[in-house]
Amino acid sequence: MTYSFEEFCADNRNAYGQDGVADLEQIRLNLERLIRENPEFVARECDPEFDYGIRELYKDPEKGFIVYSHKSVGGRTSPPHDHGASWAIYGQAWNVTDMTEYRRTDDRSTEGHAKIERTKAYRLEPGQVGKYGPHEIHQIHFEDEAGFIRVTGADLFKVDTLTYDPETESVKIVGAGSSAGSELPQPDAA
Ligand SMILES: [Fe+2]
Repeated sequence: MTYSFEEFCADNRNAYGQDGVADLEQIRLNLERLIRENPEFVARECDPEFDYGIRELYKDPEKGFIVYSHKSVGGRTSPPHDHGASWAIYGQAWNVTDMTEYRRTDDRSTEGHAKIERTKAYRLEPGQVGKYGPHEIHQIHFEDEAGFIRVTGADLFKVDTLTYDPETESVKIVGAGSSAGSELPQPDAA
């Protein structure tokens, strides 16, 4: 039987403990299952033939997590960034995304200064899902017509996040919304 989007959302709701903390590995597995067992849903929501952009597919009224579909036109490389106190789970649906993870190595004593070092680099192929916890740093790169389903713990349009520049060893708060769709090219981007 098909794993429906409604079941997926219910399973994510059930992945929260009594303490209100989400089991990110469980949600990652749920998203893998959705992509694997419901190709019709993925085709409908992520097929690059249809409109480009980000769409909110579901927001949970109780737990606050949000499911988005992302469809890109053109490639894009984001700067290293976090999702603030939120988390994000990326499920690749079309094409591939190259992910790089970093860890912060400075002592955070100087405002605006940050050193980060690369810890992992890997490719998400269709059907593969990556998870990124609160304040974890990653960088994302994809080519034209990538599509993915993303689940976030909160509304990234309302959460302050950090963007890092390893060249200048700097960090800045980029404000609410900056990582909500920062991985996506704008319609007029070259
Ligand atoms: Fe991100």
